[in-house]
Amino acid sequence: MADPILQPFQLKHLTLRNRVMITSHEPAYSEDGLPTDAYRAYHVERARAGIALTMTAGSAVVSRDSPPAFGNLLAYRDEITPHMARLAREVHDEGAAVMIQLTHLGRRTRWDTGDWLPVLSPSALREPAHRAYPKVLEDWDIARIISDYADAAERMKDAGLDGIELESYGHLMDAFWSPRLNHLDGRYGAETLETRMAFSMDVLHAIRARVGDDFIVGVRFVADEDIKGGISATEGQEIARRLRDSGMVDFLNVIRGNIDTDASLTRVIPLQGMASAPHLDFAGELRAQTGIPIFHAARIPDLSTARHAIAAGKLDMVGMTRAHIADPHIMAKLLEGREEDIRPCVGANYCIDRIYQGEKALCLHNPSTGRELSQPHKIAPTDTPTRVTIIGAGPAGLEAARVAATRGHQVHLLEAAPQAGGQIRLTAQSPRRREMLAITEWRVAQCEKLGVRLQYNTYAEPEDVLATAPDVVIVATGGMAREGGLETGSDLICSAWDVLSGDVKPEGDMLIFDEAGDHAGLQAAEFAAPHARSIEIVTRDRAIAPEVMGMNLTPYIRALQHSGAQMTITWYLSHVTRTGNRLTAHLISDYSDKIETREVDQVVVNQGTTPLDDLYFALKPQSRNLGELDYHAFLAGQSQKIIKNPDGQFDLYRIGDAVSPRNTHAAIYDGLRLARSL
Ligand SMILES: Cc1cc2nc3c(=O)[nH]c(=O)nc-3n(C[C@H](O)[C@H](O)[C@H](O)COP(=O)(O)O)c2cc1C
Ligand code: SF4
Repeated sequence: MADPILQPFQLKHLTLRNRVMITSHEPAYSEDGLPTDAYRAYHVERARAGIALTMTAGSAVVSRDSPPAFGNLLAYRDEITPHMARLAREVHDEGAAVMIQLTHLGRRTRWDTGDWLPVLSPSALREPAHRAYPKVLEDWDIARIISDYADAAERMKDAGLDGIELESYGHLMDAFWSPRLNHLDGRYGAETLETRMAFSMDVLHAIRARVGDDFIVGVRFVADEDIKGGISATEGQEIARRLRDSGMVDFLNVIRGNIDTDASLTRVIPLQGMASAPHLDFAGELRAQTGIPIFHAARIPDLSTARHAIAAGKLDMVGMTRAHIADPHIMAKLLEGREEDIRPCVGANYCIDRIYQGEKALCLHNPSTGRELSQPHKIAPTDTPTRVTIIGAGPAGLEAARVAATRGHQVHLLEAAPQAGGQIRLTAQSPRRREMLAITEWRVAQCEKLGVRLQYNTYAEPEDVLATAPDVVIVATGGMAREGGLETGSDLICSAWDVLSGDVKPEGDMLIFDEAGDHAGLQAAEFAAPHARSIEIVTRDRAIAPEVMGMNLTPYIRALQHSGAQMTITWYLSHVTRTGNRLTAHLISDYSDKIETREVDQVVVNQGTTPLDDLYFALKPQSRNLGELDYHAFLAGQSQKIIKNPDGQFDLYRIGDAVSPRNTHAAIYDGLRLARSL
């Protein structure tokens, strides 16, 4: 039987070649709000691999008083048209359709960016995530914004796009719909659903008057805000019917939930440890009730779930958005019968958390995403195969091995532990983060296919490395939890890693001093919570775990609130003393001379890692380059040519946390960059 997801879909006059799309998501690759080379390359890569439709942008803004919140495209600029035209042409050349999501962000942005205009909403209620107290819309604001929508839609039609999608969840349009957010009177006011929908209907009329009927117009809308006083599921169904009956809407893209806070956003865009496809049945019900084409995305991470969504008649088009951030070539691999080669999205939400910090969307374990021009996804073969020995089968070492082997080098990978994974194995100690293992499991499977010689249970000494007769040695031995550092009492404390690895059993009252502010401290707290009597997390910073971004912080806070853990900011651990069978933690602060103490049973510290670099330094004198990396060549993707010791037998490099403590993305990026230039 033909694969359901490979069936074409007829959307009005537009034939979509299969059922897989990328829903709108702003990767923040724009320059001055315009989709320039990197932006285009990102979409073209995925079109070339076979997706049916890419919904570009993510919240491209139609008005100047909708300042960009995360690198949004500025659809109000006339200059965007030629850029979108080139993007559309190149995506069309690859056989995919291309549309764009347009919006007015309403209160979901800040006034202190862009043109410093006040943000707007049909009430003065602020959105907790972006914090701005909005100006309540006046009649002249409404009229202007309606015509801004029509102008933007016309620009996109002129650019040759196949259509547009209006964003109506958490932004201005749905604020009109929502009884909790619309406090206006009159034509656009709160009185009835008809008046609450008057703004969207006027926008649709204005758009249709400009673009006509032969241009696709859809709405990505919240069909259940899942919040007190908000749009209910019943009202959402009625909104869907009214949009359909208007005759102006060609598809609906279903969202369930609200995005007012990081916590609620995780229910709309679930992260690892949360259920797959949580809103699929809900979207399917809307499809059954309305009969209008239904699109939907929310953690449909693999082709089997996508197949089910189509075969069971729940969706017309399946959004696999983060799945394509992690692997742009899903459709090509499906068509080539290589589904098992798909690099899995592990739901880490590093990509989306970054855009809310004002950074580009990067995939935790695919460093080529967003860097399509400088670090292409395809790895070119080498003309000069060599022998490469890599020590350490964590993310950095495995990536280096995968890439070097793909290039055609003969790769020997030595690992001290009985299994690959490195620090990822500690992360996976938390059941909720077990999916992280796929980062290294996928690489191990790829390495095995590519003929990498994987040798476990080998704590490599220099002679073990030399016995492999290498031309190139890459030390990727990672790091160990940093210990000590206290005035007194370093011998009385343990590390977050000790808790996670099971070496220390949590019990009694526990104080966790989180200096690094990354995952390990919170993870130890979450891990210990069911066993300890009480937990207090103490940080010198002015916020808890500043290295853990918004959506990733959510499950930790949820678990810690549940267990009654205390979170104390702006204090740090100076020393620990013994008091009977208990410990006294002495806390000081940068802000005052005050000293506080806590009597506890266990003191746990998270101070990051220290590089495991003995092997590197032992090998250094015997290497040709004495371990030196030419950064200029490294960044330009050129081969390394440093010769400091002509008698040396091999070139020596060090990557990942063996150099300095960073994160999984940095480790993998090191591995990719180095190995692709060998
Ligand atoms: C980096 C990033 C940015 C996003 N920006 C938007 C956006 O601007 N508008 C929107 O409707 N959805 C946005 N989304 C949500 C996606 O369209 C999609 O609904 C979400 O990722 C869940 O689908 P998935 O599980 O297939 O990734 C964004 C997602 C990501 C990962
Ligand atoms: S960062 Fe995580 S959630 Fe985002 S695409 Fe990569 S693996 Fe998926």
